[in-house]
Amino acid sequence: MASIAAAKVAEVRETTRVERVGAHSHIRGLGLDDSLEPRVVSQGMVGQLTARRAAGVVLEMIKEGKIAGRAILLAGQPGTGKTAIAMGMAQALGADTPFTSMAGSEIYSLEMSKTEALTQAIRKSIGVRIKEETEIIEGEVVEVQVDRPATGVGTKVGKLTLKTTEMETIYDLGGKMIECIMKEKVQAGDVITIDKATGKISKLGRSFTRARDYDATGPQTRFVQCPEGELQKRKEVVHTVSLHEVDVINSRTHGFLALFSGDTGEIKSEVREQINAKVAEWREEGKAEIVPGVLFIDEVHMLDIECFSFLNRALENEMAPVVIMATNRGITRIRGTNYVSPHGIPIDLLDRMNIVATKPYEEKELKEILKIRCEEEDCEMAEDALTVLTRIAGETSLRYAIQLITTAGLVSRKRKSNEVQMEDIKRVYSLFLDENRSMQFLKEYQDEFMFNDMGDSNDAMEVTDG
Ligand SMILES: Nc1ncnc2c1ncn2[C@@H]1O[C@H](COP(=O)(O)OP(=O)(O)O)[C@@H](O)[C@H]1O
Ligand SMILES: [Mg+2]
Repeated sequence: MASIAAAKVAEVRETTRVERVGAHSHIRGLGLDDSLEPRVVSQGMVGQLTARRAAGVVLEMIKEGKIAGRAILLAGQPGTGKTAIAMGMAQALGADTPFTSMAGSEIYSLEMSKTEALTQAIRKSIGVRIKEETEIIEGEVVEVQVDRPATGVGTKVGKLTLKTTEMETIYDLGGKMIECIMKEKVQAGDVITIDKATGKISKLGRSFTRARDYDATGPQTRFVQCPEGELQKRKEVVHTVSLHEVDVINSRTHGFLALFSGDTGEIKSEVREQINAKVAEWREEGKAEIVPGVLFIDEVHMLDIECFSFLNRALENEMAPVVIMATNRGITRIRGTNYVSPHGIPIDLLDRMNIVATKPYEEKELKEILKIRCEEEDCEMAEDALTVLTRIAGETSLRYAIQLITTAGLVSRKRKSNEVQMEDIKRVYSLFLDENRSMQFLKEYQDEFMFNDMGDSNDAMEVTDG
């Protein structure tokens, strides 16, 4: 009984994990067609066509893998989809291209210097594709024969007969191989591979020639052709790891276990130099190639002048990734200086960047995004409620409206309805303030708050900003 209950709990946990909804979980790509033209609504993406088209071009550059050290800046008001576009690019790149995402402010919270944090982020965004040749034996099992010693003790011995369409060979089996064969339940008619270096056995499927003389094969049985040619083959295996992973594994003070704890600390520059030299050697020998990936730095105006000049240099490196940054700041002070510049980024760095602007959404687009979010959160919403919510998004902010979907959903369920109505939206709109109304509230009651600094409201904003 208890075990059944436990299993149920585990099952529920499993599904909640899968269905966890994040701010950008509805984004499944950039929503472009084959000629890189953005579809109006696709892969969870709505509108913002120019920026998405530009992102598509950048994506193409990255996929070709030829360019290094470019910088792209996504600039636009809050809630115009800058982060969403970066996430879409990450999805579209696929798992084999490294994509690292960080917020500008993260560099201040780690227990390492700012430049070390940036170096690690950069090296996480560069992949090394390592090619290895291994020898394997691949064939169809003709017979497995295991002999137990008559006494029942002592080592087992056995023979394995494998064939291809052209040849057949008998192999002697040691104790360890017999164990593997038992564990994998290898029988006559299976097509298997044996890795010669490790002795690992993997089943590829059952041979087609045995398809008929077997009633007991389940629906999940895979049938494959009997291999051709020699039994012994060379096979190329490819792994992609990031430069940062190679650094950590080779850093004596930390070791590879640090990769799991995430607590990698600072890595000595000698280690990195050695790794760079080794990777260069591998590249020359054709054993490895570099896969430049993407480093995404959100809220990039949070970086200071030291970080900016470090990035400026880092971009010149031959192994630099493509750096995508996002900011919602206009002309503002560069952190760590008294200079003012566009987006709070030094002019010399700005000069290297391709700037992509994101623009505020029209009502139609807001509605479409909200609709997609309702689906993502499994929330049924009446048409007039959605219209009101769209109005709210236009007058306050898209993010605020998106937050209201969740709360309105809860409120509607409370009154045992499974559709959000206008009244639910009204209810949560009065329960939760948006930024403007919160400001209004603070102004009215400022005297009753602690640490009230709001002499002149504009000044106060400046202080919290810097
Ligand atoms: N074009 C879009 N298509 C679909 N969802 C979007 C789009 N733009 C923004 N969103 C969603 O709206 C919310 C706010 O956008 P976000 O990307 O965080 O804005 P920004 O980073 O520009 O401040 C996020 O949940 C985001 O996924
Ligand atoms: Mg953002």
